[in-house]
Amino acid sequence: MNNKRIELPDGAPLLKPDFLFGVATAAFQIEGAADSRLPCIWDTFCAEPGKIRDGSNGLQACRHIEHWQQDIDLIHSMGVDAYRFSVSWPRVMHADGTPNQQGLDFYVQLLDKLNALGIKAFVTLYHWDLPQYLEDQGGWLNRLTAYRFRDYARLIARTFGDRVYSYATLNEPYCSAYLGYEIGVHAPGHKSKAWGKQAAHHLLLAHGLAMRELTEHAPHAQNGIVLNFSPCYAKTDAPEDIQAAQNADQYYNHWYLRPVLEGRYPDLMHALPEHERPVIEEGDMQVIAHPLDYLGINYYTREIYQADDTELFRGGQQKSLPLTDMGWEIYPQGLRNLLLSYHQQYALPPVYITENGAAMVDKLEEGQVNDWDRLAYLHSHINAVNEAAEQGVDIRGYFAWSLMDNFEWAEGYLKRFGLVYVDYDSQQRIIKASGQAYAHMLKHRQTSA
Ligand code: NOJ
Repeated sequence: MNNKRIELPDGAPLLKPDFLFGVATAAFQIEGAADSRLPCIWDTFCAEPGKIRDGSNGLQACRHIEHWQQDIDLIHSMGVDAYRFSVSWPRVMHADGTPNQQGLDFYVQLLDKLNALGIKAFVTLYHWDLPQYLEDQGGWLNRLTAYRFRDYARLIARTFGDRVYSYATLNEPYCSAYLGYEIGVHAPGHKSKAWGKQAAHHLLLAHGLAMRELTEHAPHAQNGIVLNFSPCYAKTDAPEDIQAAQNADQYYNHWYLRPVLEGRYPDLMHALPEHERPVIEEGDMQVIAHPLDYLGINYYTREIYQADDTELFRGGQQKSLPLTDMGWEIYPQGLRNLLLSYHQQYALPPVYITENGAAMVDKLEEGQVNDWDRLAYLHSHINAVNEAAEQGVDIRGYFAWSLMDNFEWAEGYLKRFGLVYVDYDSQQRIIKASGQAYAHMLKHRQTSA
């Protein structure tokens, strides 16, 4: 695709005057300044040899704690409506649960600057950086962690108050639970099917408990959760492959969506062996199903599944081209189909696309990054959002992942997702062609009244 701008049809449903376009980041991926906060599970994980592809860590990252003013100016210069970022729990609370004022002050000044510039703040409370002292007590396998998270949510809601437009309790609990506790490719690196489900349950409980706090202490904010979905397609039309894809869909996607919207787990729970089912205490599901002001959806790609003789499904199928630098298939229609299908299956609250974007092989040449492939990705996915909006899904905003290149978890700094290029040695930021096109689209957008 050779379209070097992002253009949207005039008056399309997407372009209601209050539709928000934003950019997103997360604390551990950009902040650095690890010495001014407590250690978290990702510090520990990064220190274990072989866990991060380039052997790197989050100690420096984009040194955002130092460069935050410049970074917010950059966001402002791009003309975005909203900025989604996360608070580092180990930066704002001491291990005894008392507030770390210095850490809180950092975010308060950031929020004040965003507000002064008219940029709406979307604050995520948990983007995977669990304080290590909590992991030492069992982490998300320990039910008490959910209650510590509730205390943290209360502290943040009381301190930030009306400065925040929207709170998200958790970012992608699937990644924390499944990648972190079930297959061990993310921190804290445990490998147990049973632990994956138990961690997921405690994360969901933490979400519900935090929603109560947010509703009480930040009643004017839009409060919700951010879930990631990769729609599950069957490899063939054979009924057993279709069933396998449905199983995978329940296992990965509805496992999180159904509890928060309907207060129950998918039926697939009954197909799991007894010892893999989580311990659920009475009343948990009601807490988890606390009404949401919005649902945040992160979308990157789809997955293809087939039947398996011994497991509920088998994945890892050959993807169609083209792929991003993560090896993820570029499949914008997956986003449209997903939105439409959830709209049909559930009573969805308003939706924000809280992340969408692509890692590409970026080259800095003569001071420029001509990432037309990323631009085409963004364009096609924004169009997919628009199509879903035209067909009746209430979508309120779209956030590009990410504002700038950053620490891509187990991939370290090898994968670049930014609209802005980061030279990690000089810490220089250079807006890529995709970032310029995004800014251009925002500047020239026309909205329907
Ligand atoms: C989802 C996560 O929320 C974010 O932290 C990550 O960098 C992107 N996906 C890309 O993998």
